[in-house]
Amino acid sequence: MTTELTPGDDWLELRQAAVASAGLAYAPYSNYPVGAAARTSDGRMLSGCNVENASYGLTLCAEAGLISALFAAGGGRLAQFCCVDGAGHLITPCGRCRQLLWEHGGPDLIVWSPAGLLPMTELLPQAWGFDD
Ligand code: THU
Repeated sequence: MTTELTPGDDWLELRQAAVASAGLAYAPYSNYPVGAAARTSDGRMLSGCNVENASYGLTLCAEAGLISALFAAGGGRLAQFCCVDGAGHLITPCGRCRQLLWEHGGPDLIVWSPAGLLPMTELLPQAWGFDD
């Protein structure tokens, strides 16, 4: 079920951070920069961008950088997340990245997706996680 929330200023600020991060991406192979941004439950903002590699399979998604940034900043739980393409359009995280997000946000994490604000339980139903 889509949440009834309308994205407010906190979400707009988060999206701006994702746009700025997409501008830092290293994506010479796909030419598809991605920026990800999240706010922790205690209000810190984090971001990440995709970093590709000549050995294509080694590409790091923007979300992977974001999770690294989370722990470099002391850890915590993710409460809000969004990611954008190089044009600043909202995109939906890939399957692997949904699993990364689930580990550090779980069912409380809200994602601003192209379909609106959604709980992670909608993006990754019946998720496999820490308790399993
Ligand atoms: N990408 C991300 O950074 N996050 C996603 O959730 C989807 C895909 C990147 C990986 C690759 O560098 C580019 O987008 C094209 O797939």
